[in-house]
Amino acid sequence: MIFKLRSLRESDLSNLVQYANNKNIFNNLTDAFPHPFDAEKGKAFIDRILSNKPHHVQAITIDDQLIGCIGVHPKTDVHKKNAELGYWVAEPYWGKGIISKAIPLMVEYGFDNFDISRIYATPYPHNIASQKALEKSGFVLEASLEKTLFKNGEYLDELIYAIRKE
Ligand SMILES: CC(C)(COP(=O)(O)OP(=O)(O)OC[C@H]1O[C@@H](n2cnc3c(N)ncnc32)[C@H](O)[C@@H]1OP(=O)(O)O)[C@@H](O)C(=O)NCCC(=O)NCCS
Repeated sequence: MIFKLRSLRESDLSNLVQYANNKNIFNNLTDAFPHPFDAEKGKAFIDRILSNKPHHVQAITIDDQLIGCIGVHPKTDVHKKNAELGYWVAEPYWGKGIISKAIPLMVEYGFDNFDISRIYATPYPHNIASQKALEKSGFVLEASLEKTLFKNGEYLDELIYAIRKE
């Protein structure tokens, strides 16, 4: 399926809210991703992304319509050479190979635009699609920490996948 990455726009708000307001997406992300995801939260999200340059988050689009988001978030202090990768695709578009192709594009964008040498992601153990997409994109499972996460009332292992610039 042909998609593009581009900067977010204020006009993406309705698609963002329509697709991001989904428990099946929230269940696979950190609790910083709001649920319910309403227009107020959507607007705050777009404003926050547009206030940072280069933008940390890009819209995944089909026919210029937002159907997901992918971002690299540089860390601070002694972690400053690292950035965390996060992404979601609208549920009607799952299983069409979109994120497997979007991750390498975002990795290139991250290494080109930020002073970082490592990009990592922490998919939950049940999130096989995300793990497969990361592995296909050259990420390596660097560590698995036992029951360090607490999501939806349950302890989860933290899987740390990463890719290095060199
Ligand atoms: C995880 C997510 C981004 C995957 O996006 P996607 O575009 O559907 O993924 P792809 O189509 O590129 O599939 C990736 C791989 O997973 C496989 N896959 C897809 N859905 C799967 C499922 N439910 N169970 C197992 N494997 C699955 C695909 O077959 C593909 O593997 P293959 O190339 O060997 O066939 C999407 O499901 C999503 O947005 N989930 C909610 C948010 C989330 O999980 N974000 C990531 C947090 S780390």
